[in-house]
Amino acid sequence: MYRSRLDGKLDDVTLEFLSSISDDDVIANYDILGSEAHTLMLLENKIINKQEAAKILSALERLKGNISEKSDAEDIHELIESLVIKKAGKDAGGKMHTARSRNDQVALDIRMKIRDDINMVCFCLNQTIETLINLAEKNQHAIMPLYTHMQQAQVGLFSHFLLAYADAFFRDLDRFYVAYGRINESPLGAGPVGGTSIPINRQSTAKMLGFKGLVENSIDATTSRDFVAEYIGNAAILMTNLSRMAEDFIIWSTSEFSFIELSDRFTSSSSVMPQKKNPDVLELIRGKTSQVIGYQMSVLSNLKGLPSGYNRDLQQVKVSIWPTSKIIISSLLVVNSLLKTMKVNEKKLRQAIDGGYSISLDIAEALVRKGIPFRNSHKIVGNLVQIASNSKKSLLALSIDEIRTVIHNDEIDAKELHKIIQSTTPEHSLETRRSQGSAGKHEQQRMIEHRKRKIQAYMTGTNKRTNEVRESFEALNNNVLSMIKSAS
Ligand code: ARG
Repeated sequence: MYRSRLDGKLDDVTLEFLSSISDDDVIANYDILGSEAHTLMLLENKIINKQEAAKILSALERLKGNISEKSDAEDIHELIESLVIKKAGKDAGGKMHTARSRNDQVALDIRMKIRDDINMVCFCLNQTIETLINLAEKNQHAIMPLYTHMQQAQVGLFSHFLLAYADAFFRDLDRFYVAYGRINESPLGAGPVGGTSIPINRQSTAKMLGFKGLVENSIDATTSRDFVAEYIGNAAILMTNLSRMAEDFIIWSTSEFSFIELSDRFTSSSSVMPQKKNPDVLELIRGKTSQVIGYQMSVLSNLKGLPSGYNRDLQQVKVSIWPTSKIIISSLLVVNSLLKTMKVNEKKLRQAIDGGYSISLDIAEALVRKGIPFRNSHKIVGNLVQIASNSKKSLLALSIDEIRTVIHNDEIDAKELHKIIQSTTPEHSLETRRSQGSAGKHEQQRMIEHRKRKIQAYMTGTNKRTNEVRESFEALNNNVLSMIKSAS
């Protein structure tokens, strides 16, 4: 349809190569809504008349959810325009594309799609974080080792892990939440690159489509895809956080650890080994994370060498967005259900503590409270662990005579040290662990209450935004229908 200055038709292979039609289904409906707002604005500003507007709008209405036609159009924008011309006639339909370009149109459609996806991602993140907070509340007494280098480090609580994931997801949520403000701006009316001499009103279309403002500069509006890079970058970081949690759970659900048990509904079996209960869902979170990181690379490397103004390379940016959204939304949905059905094996968690030496730092700190310099107490406890580990017993089982061998001055006597070891239980340690954000008992309670309030604020904001978009589409739809009606 657009090839008026070019000779000859494209052959099938070339058309297929050029075309984005198979990737454009996702934005077809947004393209129609954008075209409706644009048409109403053309009418408002007397650029087209009422009859023309009504013909275009009823053609667009009939296309909603209904574009199945095979065509030789290069993309959805061309296809929709050609179908409108077919239905509304050349005289009216031919005016729809006045004062716009596919360049501002495609930027608009992508922004509308990502805007909806962000609201959905924020909704899913809200749910997942809420689940983590509720689980943390239930697991405030599940004592377990905390790890560094995958070696037992300190005594902690399962709730502390859950809250750590929640806090990482809060940052993900906030990244999407804030990015929304930058994405929720309308590029429509920027034209091909430099605007138009036709007296359009960009603010009006922006308002009809629920945008908070404009991507003002017409070069920027049609060229920039940094908002896509930002969206997919946020997605890649979110997946990386999900992947870490998945990795922890995979390790903890092994028969060697058995800290948690995943519900059968989120595991797979083996075609040959009847005993298998594999954490495939979690493995796929890891696998899909690398895919999203790949999309992020693809978008950035596409953008980095492009000159300003629309270049067709940008068409390939779209194909990274749709699967990214699908992956992050489905990952969050699955993880949320998995968390809700997962069992925590408190007994195993406790056995891991009792069989290790993660209480060591607490004993050293008890000595510090007696006035012994930390470096000396570190040495004393280190030597105690050495003796205990050589004779394969716990620190609790060390005799006073054994303890005496590690004391080389009169800072403390063996009996007192024995008493300290006996009284430094994991429960006692978690009672005395008071530093802000620590694994201490009181900190769990405080953080849970604080995070509960915090998630409420994001939930309210996300619902408000979702409603704003929905209400603007409803209003647009009402305007379209009453316009069509009044012209008939
Ligand atoms: N199919 C194109 C895309 O997805 C739409 C814009 C085409 N613009 C152009 N001047 N060829 O990016």
